[in-house]
Amino acid sequence: MFGIWLFLLISFQGYKASVTHNVTCMVINLDYVNCSWSEQGSPDMNSTFFHNKFNTQKNHMEECSTYLLEQGYVVGCRLDYERAARFRTLITKLVFQNKTYEQKHDLKDRVKLYPPANLSLEMINNTQLNLYWNYSKYSHCAESEVRFRINTNDWKSLRPRQEQMYSVPFPSNSNTYEFQENNNTDVE
Ligand SMILES: *[C@@H]1O[C@H](CO)[C@@H](O)[C@H](O)[C@H]1NC(C)=O
Ligand SMILES: *[C@@H]1O[C@H](CO)[C@@H](O)[C@H](O)[C@H]1NC(C)=O
Ligand SMILES: *[C@@H]1O[C@H](CO)[C@@H](O)[C@H](O)[C@H]1NC(C)=O
Ligand SMILES: *[C@@H]1O[C@H](CO)[C@@H](O)[C@H](O)[C@H]1NC(C)=O
Ligand SMILES: *[C@@H]1O[C@H](CO)[C@@H](O)[C@H](O)[C@H]1NC(C)=O
Ligand SMILES: *[C@@H]1O[C@H](CO)[C@@H](O)[C@H](O)[C@H]1NC(C)=O
Ligand SMILES: *[C@@H]1O[C@H](CO)[C@@H](O)[C@H](O)[C@H]1NC(C)=O
Ligand SMILES: *[C@@H]1O[C@H](CO)[C@@H](O)[C@H](O)[C@H]1NC(C)=O
Repeated sequence: MFGIWLFLLISFQGYKASVTHNVTCMVINLDYVNCSWSEQGSPDMNSTFFHNKFNTQKNHMEECSTYLLEQGYVVGCRLDYERAARFRTLITKLVFQNKTYEQKHDLKDRVKLYPPANLSLEMINNTQLNLYWNYSKYSHCAESEVRFRINTNDWKSLRPRQEQMYSVPFPSNSNTYEFQENNNTDVE
């Protein structure tokens, strides 16, 4: 009986801990890493955040050097990111009210690119309608999917493509064209 109670207690605490102190990390544009723990609403107390700098060889953890603040409270940490570290595990430790929450993160597929920029439309000689956009970088491994509709017809999607332009076939002056862009965030 005691064993069962102990087990329930531990699993309840584990569940509660992961719900309220879940650290989520995301590689931003392969430039830096954003870790945050404010998804369940802003905490009303500061936490301390440690990480292993993607170094699984050593057991050394160091404190966050650039905290992200929200309404005067720390809600996240900005970490440096080296591409060489992308297949290694990030270990984080959040210390909140004397309790420690340790997590392991595999960030290989947790990459968010900046959205496409400089969206522009060009009509040439009333016969060619071109849509252009720019990726901020890594255009070789980014894909975009163009969604468009003519007048108020259904939206159509084009296959994700690497090109940073789309030419509307047989455009007509009497139609209304609407475009949508959807950043595909999978790289590597
Ligand atoms: C914690 O965050 C990760 C990554 O966003 C998510 O997959 C997981 O379901 C979350 N866990 C809880 C208990 O919210
Ligand atoms: C990084 O995290 C902070 C704090 O949660 C947030 O305000 C910011 O928008 C995030 N940056 C990106 C690019 O998601
Ligand atoms: C939380 O941390 C921030 C940044 O270090 C600090 O400015 C603020 O005073 C702290 N708040 C509390 C309640 O300790
Ligand atoms: C944290 O630990 C210190 C020293 O053990 C204790 O004095 C303090 O009351 C604890 N704080 C909380 C919020 O449990
Ligand atoms: C694309 O980027 C925009 C602007 O940051 C964002 O609002 C939108 O949610 C992103 N779409 C996807 C599918 O990630
Ligand atoms: C547009 O029309 C002009 C005159 O007919 C022609 O010289 C020019 O080459 C055309 N441009 C394109 C991009 O088709
Ligand atoms: C950005 O888009 C313009 C056309 O709008 C194109 O000429 C230019 O080469 C693009 N720049 C990059 C860096 O892709
Ligand atoms: C968008 O256009 C501006 C002005 O031409 C340019 O400075 C900027 O680098 C472009 N952005 C991208 C992502 O190509």
